[in-house]
Amino acid sequence: MSENKKMPLNVLVLHGPNLNLLGTREPDVYGSDTLKSVNAALKEQGRTLGITVNTFQSNYEGVLVEKIQASIGVQDGLIINPAAYTHTSVAIRDALLMLKPEIPIIEIHLSNIYKRESFRHRSMIADVVTGQISGLGVIGYTLALTALDQFIRL
Ligand code: DQA
Repeated sequence: MSENKKMPLNVLVLHGPNLNLLGTREPDVYGSDTLKSVNAALKEQGRTLGITVNTFQSNYEGVLVEKIQASIGVQDGLIINPAAYTHTSVAIRDALLMLKPEIPIIEIHLSNIYKRESFRHRSMIADVVTGQISGLGVIGYTLALTALDQFIRL
């Protein structure tokens, strides 16, 4: 681990629109776990890794942008599921560009966006982020935090 990293490390997990209804929203596509349980599992995983995991969900694009802006110099890594804004948001892309290359960013989707409607195949942030996880359900969040832990400490 590099000497200049303060402990504990901070990772922000951002959830976009409609993910507040995870568990009841199209469970055949997104699974039956709730957002509350996903967040709790990430916080618990963070404790074992020495990472403080902060979670945040919003249905509003500008609120997500402001949260990304507020991460500059505060967070050591970011996990983001922009949900529908993945496919439309230049504003979220531009906000993430301000974080790059300072912190690693993992884009995550519960469903495999490439197996779905063609409008979901384009991610506005795919070329901005460190890497993308798509189609692994809630396991993807665990993998994302495991990966971030490695990248942060490089
Ligand atoms: C999603 C995929 C998006 O296309 C969709 O709009 C979502 C969730 C996913 O996690 O699979 O809301 O990001």
